[in-house]
Amino acid sequence: MASFISTFFLLVVVATATPAVSQSSDPSEPMCYDWGESSEGAVSILDGEAGWLSCPLFSHPSVYNYSSTQSAGHNLFWYRLPDGHDLEQPITSSSRISKDRDRLWLQPATAADTGQYICMLRNKSSCSKIAMRLKVLRPDEVLQGANCKPPVAAVAASQMNIPIQEGGILDCPDLQEAAKMPESKPNVTWYHFTEKHCNKAPFWGSDRQQKGDKLHVHIMYVSYQGLYFCTVSYQRRGQTLNFTRSINVTAVQPSSLPKQPSILNPTRDQIYTVKQNMEARLVCRGMFPHLVSPWDIWWTVDGKTVDQLGDSRFSNTSRHVSYDYGDRIEVSELVIKDFQSEDLNREYNCSVRNARGFDTRAAKLQEEVSLPSVELGCGLGVTLVLMLLLFVVYHVFWLELLLLYRSWFGTDERHTDDKEYDVYISYARNGEEEQFVLTTLRRVLENELGYSVCIFDRDSLPGGTITDETLSFVARSRRLLVVVSPGYASQGSQALLELKAGIDGMALGGHLRVILVQYKPIRWQGWVRELRRTRVALALVRWKGEKSRELTSRFWKRLRVELPVRTVSSGEEDNSKEVALMRLHSQNSTNSQTGLITNMVKEPHKVFSSAA
Ligand SMILES: *[C@@H]1O[C@H](CO)[C@@H](O)[C@H](O)[C@H]1NC(C)=O
Ligand SMILES: *[C@@H]1O[C@H](CO)[C@@H](O)[C@H](O)[C@H]1NC(C)=O
Ligand SMILES: *[C@@H]1O[C@H](CO)[C@@H](O)[C@H](O)[C@H]1NC(C)=O
Ligand SMILES: *[C@@H]1O[C@H](CO)[C@@H](O)[C@H](O)[C@H]1NC(C)=O
Ligand SMILES: *[C@@H]1O[C@H](CO)[C@@H](O)[C@H](O)[C@H]1NC(C)=O
Ligand SMILES: *[C@@H]1O[C@H](CO)[C@@H](O)[C@H](O)[C@H]1NC(C)=O
Ligand SMILES: *[C@@H]1O[C@H](CO)[C@@H](O)[C@H](O)[C@H]1NC(C)=O
Repeated sequence: MASFISTFFLLVVVATATPAVSQSSDPSEPMCYDWGESSEGAVSILDGEAGWLSCPLFSHPSVYNYSSTQSAGHNLFWYRLPDGHDLEQPITSSSRISKDRDRLWLQPATAADTGQYICMLRNKSSCSKIAMRLKVLRPDEVLQGANCKPPVAAVAASQMNIPIQEGGILDCPDLQEAAKMPESKPNVTWYHFTEKHCNKAPFWGSDRQQKGDKLHVHIMYVSYQGLYFCTVSYQRRGQTLNFTRSINVTAVQPSSLPKQPSILNPTRDQIYTVKQNMEARLVCRGMFPHLVSPWDIWWTVDGKTVDQLGDSRFSNTSRHVSYDYGDRIEVSELVIKDFQSEDLNREYNCSVRNARGFDTRAAKLQEEVSLPSVELGCGLGVTLVLMLLLFVVYHVFWLELLLLYRSWFGTDERHTDDKEYDVYISYARNGEEEQFVLTTLRRVLENELGYSVCIFDRDSLPGGTITDETLSFVARSRRLLVVVSPGYASQGSQALLELKAGIDGMALGGHLRVILVQYKPIRWQGWVRELRRTRVALALVRWKGEKSRELTSRFWKRLRVELPVRTVSSGEEDNSKEVALMRLHSQNSTNSQTGLITNMVKEPHKVFSSAA
């Protein structure tokens, strides 16, 4: 002690002799190496409590060993730079402020002591200095009076874990510093702060007891977590001094639980989907039960860590996810840039390890089926559009399609029956329709479409029984084309006879089909009974006036669909006309009515009017 005091005074003398830290004007003095401000050296002391600063040049990571510097003739000097000042002041020792080896004691500290402190180590040939910060906290910043509210800014707390249902002993940090003081044995008081409570000795239950200076936790519960404070009181020079320390106590999982680490992901049947030429991210989650031991989580590719692999496409990242009573979940992510299909053949293992065990699991990778949704959507869209198109085409061109189909696959009825006429036209005489039948309908059917047409008034022989002849003609025709009109088939008319013959022929299966052609819109009620009855079963082709004149119009196409199959491509048109004429000739040659018919083909109007 005596030697301490003597060196102390010596130091003070030297300190006062060199007031400035920076290079003095004396050229013999060494340049001082400045370590700047040490963040580790920062200290908080409660106002009115005792505390000390340790020169960071000697603390971890230490630059100097105090004992060896003393033997190398070094001296330690303390300076202070109060807040708001820019000139260091040498610290003058007093009963309150004293130096002990590498420490500067404040017994007690006051709010005015807050500021920057500099310690400088120097011998004749070398010099080093380092700064640190002291903050003197007002007690209400830490222990909020009688309310015992949790401290706003705690004095740096040490950490302690106690397993649930087990025990632990809390030692007040730095108690031994007070115990060094010669005057009396220090007293320790313990407090426990939680959000709601402030417990102070001796008000502990049977689970927690203060024994001597230590606080014993016999059985740990989750509610016993939190900040514990100990205040150490000691006597110095007749004065009672205190300092307070805190311990952050955390409840952790009982040590009886298994402590082997486990892999949460990848699970045994988890499949990571990867895409070629894209970035793949494989996430591994490991669970490390609470254990005071080093732990690790890492990926390997074909048994090699990313570092060993040395492929810049592969990288890994790690992060801490959650803490649950000391159990921790850690994540390691393997990132593969620009994934290639040969990467699929590699073995990707995630491994975890702590002092109690090791686990590894391979991740299953699967290449995502390369049918991107865009292409799928396009395909579907194209199909839909095509279907719509077909639908439209069918509805607009179904007649054409039907005709085309018939021209390719339809059978020419001429080869399968022995009928003479393709069409027998039945119509109301002396009406508007007569003109239509004799000019338009007959002309197109005979001349342009190549059908053999039977018109009773034209083709029957004078003198015969009308009934018999009508029936005979109708029977020899493949189609009965009925041009319906309001006056059609009035009682006892020729048309009615024809209609009845046609309907009978159809009913008897005589290879006769009845087609209705409507020249002018007529009302349903105007139809004769026979027609009304058959109307639903028969095809009705409507004449649309001028629109229907063209051979390419719907009327003719519709009609051709109902008539026997004849091909009328433009090239064959003349041909089929010739065929028709030739047929007529051959028929007529057997029939001895040659002259009349050939004339009629040339001058149909004249003949018809005379026949009518
Ligand atoms: C400091 O030096 C002394 C002797 O020179 C030695 O006993 C001591 O262990 C050293 N301390 C450190 C922290 O290196
Ligand atoms: C000063 O200290 C350094 C090492 O810190 C030492 O090498 C040197 O010899 C000392 N100088 C004197 C004069 O003792
Ligand atoms: C410690 O407590 C005892 C008993 O309460 C008391 O006699 C003693 O003076 C205290 N010491 C200090 C340093 O406060
Ligand atoms: C020291 O601590 C004791 C016990 O906690 C308290 O009664 C006393 O007021 C404190 N003294 C100072 C100077 O803070
Ligand atoms: C106490 O420790 C727990 C867990 O380590 C931490 O979440 C909490 O913030 C700490 N409390 C204080 C006041 O340091
Ligand atoms: C990648 O993993 C290795 C091995 O575990 C580890 O040393 C390295 O720190 C990790 N890299 C990152 C960025 O986490
Ligand atoms: C990868 O994990 C599987 C179990 O999932 C194991 O059989 C295999 O040996 C591991 N491979 C390496 C290189 O650790």
